[in-house]
Amino acid sequence: MNLDLVNDIKSDVSVEFLTKETLKKHKQKKLLEKAGFEAAQDSLCFLHESGVLACGVEALESDCIRSAASQAIKALKSSKNESASFSVDAKSLEAIVEGVILGGYEYNRYKSEPKETALQDIYLICKDIKKLSQSFQEAVIIAEATCFTRDLVNTTPEDLHPSSLSEIAKELAKENKLSCKVLGEKELHKEKMGAMLAVGRASRHESQLIHLTYKPKKAKKVITLVGKGLTYDSGGLSLKPATSMVTMKMDKAGACAILGMIKAVSELGLDVEVHAFIGAVENMIGGDAYKPDDVLVARSKKTVEVRNTDAEGRLVLCDVLDYAQDKVKADYIFDFATLTGACMVALGQYTTGVMGHSSKLKHDFFTAAERSGELIGSLPFNRHLKKLLKSEIADISNVSSKPYGGAITAGLFLDNFIKDENKEKWLHFDIAGSAYTESPWDCNVYGATGAGVRLMSSFLKKVQTAK
Ligand code: BES
Ligand code: ZN
Ligand code: ZN
Repeated sequence: MNLDLVNDIKSDVSVEFLTKETLKKHKQKKLLEKAGFEAAQDSLCFLHESGVLACGVEALESDCIRSAASQAIKALKSSKNESASFSVDAKSLEAIVEGVILGGYEYNRYKSEPKETALQDIYLICKDIKKLSQSFQEAVIIAEATCFTRDLVNTTPEDLHPSSLSEIAKELAKENKLSCKVLGEKELHKEKMGAMLAVGRASRHESQLIHLTYKPKKAKKVITLVGKGLTYDSGGLSLKPATSMVTMKMDKAGACAILGMIKAVSELGLDVEVHAFIGAVENMIGGDAYKPDDVLVARSKKTVEVRNTDAEGRLVLCDVLDYAQDKVKADYIFDFATLTGACMVALGQYTTGVMGHSSKLKHDFFTAAERSGELIGSLPFNRHLKKLLKSEIADISNVSSKPYGGAITAGLFLDNFIKDENKEKWLHFDIAGSAYTESPWDCNVYGATGAGVRLMSSFLKKVQTAK
């Protein structure tokens, strides 16, 4: 499918966004009403004879337009039309690009006969191409990086395991002129990453730590990104129930998100230096599996009592965060992880949970989220929850002693591995709910959503322009 920004063109269908108000003044108002179209958000009405696809929106705002454009593209793809056009202006451009690319996304790798579509060309029509051309290209880069992340997350654990993730990272490095360093288990032992190594011990796939770097000439800031890359999470010996295990290929979504972020940043050519660190591990069972009751020695030398092998993400992240802080002196450190089911209980499945000590930084992300169309919500740390990680036999336990506040106690576990000088620079993003969906919402279709990529791109675009 081609997507182009043009001045004017004739296409099979022209897509129109209508509110209840603008419907009243529409020249085909009678016909639309007869078809039962009331301009409700996400409702559609095809007027085949005149080649109009009417899309209802609650208001002419980005969130409404993005969602309606997603509905439109799905309907267009299952029609017999070959081309369609949308009128765009500076305000609606990004939302329409995202709706078209993200809403029209399909993952067909495992389909022997993918559905074919007649739709070939999508035109975005605007008066002043010159003025909008840069925004158009940027929106396409970010949406395509989001699809890149989705493709990776949707790949099965048989096809995407720790070493294949390293290969993908190396390939991305080659294409986008990044540098890439991979540590295998021998090097991880040398680094004394006892927590991360324990999680991957029962897997037939060797654990990997991947470090990608994007280094522009005049970087305004240095950013460290850390991603949880559990290519499969069976729960380990604290085995997940059968129904919860389905979808656990998505436990690598944090890692895949930061790959999408560094791809976007390098293609946008932003003036920020970005380091992406990934802990790629598979959490399995077997004679060599780590156990509840084990005490692990993390890279930081802290000892960790394992009380639940399903709380494995924090064990991987604590060592990768520690390594990343030693390797790079960054202005900001952000980790992305499908860390807890509790985050979904707290915020619902659509919202990413944000935790950290800096109110200013969280605030900057709220504005970035609003611009990007992603949803985030703050989960506050407190000293009472912190105490629940106390262990009787080691420095810290890998799970809380109480059942409530699980997303926050997971964040607080990570906080134990953030060095004092970095406390204000760090945020933790729990994408357990937002990274994957089994029913479509907004511009998301079944499967991975690519959560984090639009959010971080939007944040970093602002960072590079700040004084
Ligand atoms: N990967 C899961 C979290 C998760 C659950 C992500 C559902 C997406 C959907 C994580 O490793 C995990 O199992 N966490 C446990 C922690 C508990 C043992 C303290 C959880 O959330 O139940
Ligand atoms: Zn787990
Ligand atoms: Zn997990």
